[in-house]
Amino acid sequence: MIAVIGASGNVGRVVTRRLVGLGSRPRCLTRDPARSALGPDVEVVTGDLGGPTGLDGLLTGARAVFVVTAGPDAPDHDAAVARAVARHGVRQVVKVSSVAALPPVNDPYGAAHLAAEEAYRRTGAACTFLRPAAFMTNTLQWAWSISAENTVYQAFGELRQAVVDPADVAEVAVRALTGPGHEGRTYTLTGPEALTARERARRIAGALGRPLTFVDAPPAAARRAMTEAGLPAGYVDGLLASQGDPDPARGGTPLPTVAEVTGCPPRTFDAWVAAHVRQFT
Ligand SMILES: NC(=O)c1ccc[n+]([C@@H]2O[C@H](COP(=O)([O-])OP(=O)(O)OC[C@H]3O[C@@H](n4cnc5c(N)ncnc54)[C@H](OP(=O)(O)O)[C@@H]3O)[C@@H](O)[C@H]2O)c1
Repeated sequence: MIAVIGASGNVGRVVTRRLVGLGSRPRCLTRDPARSALGPDVEVVTGDLGGPTGLDGLLTGARAVFVVTAGPDAPDHDAAVARAVARHGVRQVVKVSSVAALPPVNDPYGAAHLAAEEAYRRTGAACTFLRPAAFMTNTLQWAWSISAENTVYQAFGELRQAVVDPADVAEVAVRALTGPGHEGRTYTLTGPEALTARERARRIAGALGRPLTFVDAPPAAARRAMTEAGLPAGYVDGLLASQGDPDPARGGTPLPTVAEVTGCPPRTFDAWVAAHVRQFT
């Protein structure tokens, strides 16, 4: 049995759907089964990685676990999952990490993912780490200002990122969970082209059929917006340092990894926009 942590998220929802399609019945952790709407084909375990966790219920009898942790408490959550993996003798871990974890790590966000990778390795489980570039779905953060003001506000607007569709990250995860040869591997995952945020906004404008104004927001404004939204200052600083990292090795260069692992070329940003254009109107 395969356990899934983060089953209602961008990557985990696709992983779960694909596992069900392959005939398995994954066991999925969620804080809120009603909101997560994972459907009847999965076993649902209610739990919160930040509280009395539900991890024992999730991992009892599990052969493998797919792990997404998210947000400022992710380091504690990964530590709790790693302890539970060791306790239950789970044989395989597939974790969504980040390109920011590529050594030498130079921001706290990448350091947290790298420390988590090391914690999972120490459990003795066969590990596969997926280090994606920025997700195409991050673009949905622009939906409100595009629909309300025809404007995109974004820091580091000229930095290139080979943004990746979370569905491709999920596809690689499913290969790792269900096929041989992925144990001990760390995969850096990108989309097929390196685009600046300004170029991505232009592509969305093309799909919408109307011009958009791009405002290259100062990082200080982005920092203010995120802290006003309730995120802890230290976490925001880590995220911004990661987003502003100019090293092309950290997601700035398209790589063949998705195609090599899945046999299919990675999905394009244009295809993603076409599938999501209504969310910008
Ligand atoms: N966004 C990017 O550009 C990017 C790039 C590279 C790597 N990453 C990494 O990708 C991961 C995020 O993946 P994603 O976008 O698929 O996630 P997501 O859509 O943000 O979903 C987060 C998932 O985590 C679960 N979750 C959150 N807090 C939880 C808690 N306290 N207890 C139990 N479950 C909890 C949520 O489940 P419920 O709400 O159902 O409980 C949800 O399924 C992060 O580790 C991030 O660092 C992201």
